[in-house]
Amino acid sequence: MILEIRKYPDPILQQPGEPISVFDDELRQLVTDMFETTYASNGVGLAAQQVGVAKRLTVVDLSVGKNPEERLVLINPEIISREGKVNQEEGCLSFPEIHEKVHRAAKVRIRAQNEFGEWFEMDATELLSRCFQHEIDHLDGVLFIFRMSSLKRDLVLRKIRKLQRDGEW
Ligand code: NI
Repeated sequence: MILEIRKYPDPILQQPGEPISVFDDELRQLVTDMFETTYASNGVGLAAQQVGVAKRLTVVDLSVGKNPEERLVLINPEIISREGKVNQEEGCLSFPEIHEKVHRAAKVRIRAQNEFGEWFEMDATELLSRCFQHEIDHLDGVLFIFRMSSLKRDLVLRKIRKLQRDGEW
């Protein structure tokens, strides 16, 4: 089922997610629906808050549904190490049409559980690293506009207000 994606400034987007302790069919259905929702919007990642659920769950798939091996479910994820720094353009399904450069670590190692509760660790570089950092931020209620300089953030917020006035947001 395709779920409704919450757009900024929906307050749930800034609500930290609750840790997940029950790994049941209901959770796995949410995971399935979140992948479906991501693909329908041509995205590469989605956090539970973006579909109105304040829990520590995010799905990532850089192949946008083309390669089942690239489907990653991160539950209760943590970044356990970071290395380097890169400044590249980033977008977010809760901010349609907004693309801005954001500083992120170049490489990260994460620890997370899958939809069956099994823990795993994984190294990521390039787009996957950026995606993990962006999505894990969502689970903490941190949006990418808060990773931008205040100057850029003000420009983005002004653009959103204009779109809202025009009924396009
Ligand atoms: Ni996002």
